[in-house]
Amino acid sequence: MGTQWYKDRVFYQIWPRSFCDGNGDGIGDLYGVYDKLDYLKSLGIGGIWFSPLYPSPNADYGYDISDYCAIHPDYGDLEIFKKVVDRAHALDIRIIMDLVVNHTSDEHEWFRKSRDKSSPYRDWYFWKKGKRPGKPPNNWDSFFENGAWSFDERSGEWYLHLFHRKQVDLNMDNAAVRAEVKRILRFWLDLGVDGFREDVITFISKPEGLPDDRLSIAVKGMRLFESGPHIHEYLQEFRTEVLDHYDCFVVGEAPMMTVKKARTYVAGAHPDLDMMFHFEHMAADCFFTEYMPLPFDLRKLKRAFSRWQYALDWNALYLENHDHPRVISRYGSERYHDESGKMLAVSYLLQKGTPFVYQGQEIGMTNITLPRIEDYRDCQALKHYYNGVKRRSADKVLSLIQKATRDNARTPVQWSAAAHAGFSTAEPWFPVNPNYPAINAQAQEDDPDSLLNFYRALIAFRSGSRTVRFGDYRELCPAHPHLYVYTRTYEGETLLALCSFTDKPCRFRLPDAAGAAELLFSNYPVGTPNAAVLTTRPYETRVYRWRTENP
Ligand code: GLC
Ligand code: CA
Repeated sequence: MGTQWYKDRVFYQIWPRSFCDGNGDGIGDLYGVYDKLDYLKSLGIGGIWFSPLYPSPNADYGYDISDYCAIHPDYGDLEIFKKVVDRAHALDIRIIMDLVVNHTSDEHEWFRKSRDKSSPYRDWYFWKKGKRPGKPPNNWDSFFENGAWSFDERSGEWYLHLFHRKQVDLNMDNAAVRAEVKRILRFWLDLGVDGFREDVITFISKPEGLPDDRLSIAVKGMRLFESGPHIHEYLQEFRTEVLDHYDCFVVGEAPMMTVKKARTYVAGAHPDLDMMFHFEHMAADCFFTEYMPLPFDLRKLKRAFSRWQYALDWNALYLENHDHPRVISRYGSERYHDESGKMLAVSYLLQKGTPFVYQGQEIGMTNITLPRIEDYRDCQALKHYYNGVKRRSADKVLSLIQKATRDNARTPVQWSAAAHAGFSTAEPWFPVNPNYPAINAQAQEDDPDSLLNFYRALIAFRSGSRTVRFGDYRELCPAHPHLYVYTRTYEGETLLALCSFTDKPCRFRLPDAAGAAELLFSNYPVGTPNAAVLTTRPYETRVYRWRTENP
């Protein structure tokens, strides 16, 4: 086992296309990343997760890979990648790659070869005859299409794709496929990377015979391919044969994961994964996905936070990534932009686990509203739109898309008030949010009270605190509809994080033990820092610290 270095670091996720354009073609790239490494260092970042950098036809923006051991020409080449890794390492920033092996692009050479029925690659994917002519082999749903199967005219059979039809599911039961996965892992580890974020990794083992799903809940088939029959075996194989030989770590993405099941992956002496990205706290304002919106319910959010904090020793902590709308626009308030941005930072950065900050989150980037469906790129949004307009008015469906689409998180990072938000000297590949003159990194750099500087201070504090690293987690007033309050306690020191998720005043009494607590962070001026009773202002947050002497 490695040294668990990932427990002492805060990660930053880069979605490369929109991070920073270094060569002036309107597309983010590794030259831009190289230029921003000092900025990430100044934020206190100790690791970077790169969303896919590999060659890809971009049906799903990099999550449809056509070559696992190269860099997409839009982003640079292996030489600049290596320079980024070396410079990052010199700054004590580790690098993890996105490992997307549930599926490949249909333009990957393995799949091209696989279309030939007599090719040895045929069995690398799931090819099947239909039940009847014109009918797919089973009734599974796809996340990005209507139905998980597409018919290939050339070979007269169907192929399985849980996502887009250009993201073809690999047959992980084939040992040759697993050998390739291990080769890919080694390739990047030998180049110097420090670990992987494993894309929908809990889906890679499909049930024998790919049977119909007899129940019809949410995504049909998911019950059967989520944590499928050989999942632990395959993850252990990757672990023992490759990962154990490097001081690296792996975080798995796991949609629909429950805490109970999560323990079978991350607990024990030789766990499959070091930690997990679950989705439970991303459904506090929706049912299952953002496309089934509900009013925001803090109690749902708190239940999800606390359930995972209590059940697991270590969690992957996040509020944003490239798959979800911006969190200020969801759980916070665009009106109380800075206040709610800071409060949201406190709501998760002091929990137990390894935090991930998504690009632009640290400056409080918000959702974008584009006028026409043609302006959007996210294949999942397009599926929902074209299905939706069969039943409802186009205006209504468009307004749902505007709130729910992943494109909200994929607008270019707002670096300054210059043209194109300083992201590029050319017209960016995707629109910049028009609020960039007000919300940008440079303006916040110069303002000691900015959200960016709040993130810096909180990350610096977190990195030096043994209580944040080791302390017990406890939630106070779990039934409160608007306040989220938690403590972390270690060796006589207690930290208390208070977070108001409303613009309405709420009364809160500090625990008696707090005595003359020290106020470490707040997002408003505080007159009497250790008053025992306080009334919160809109989206107020405070962090207190006190010591309890051991009797
Ligand atoms: C993961 C990725 C998402 C992608 C999907 C299919 O959920 O985060 O962006 O669309 O897997 O690869
Ligand atoms: Ca570029």
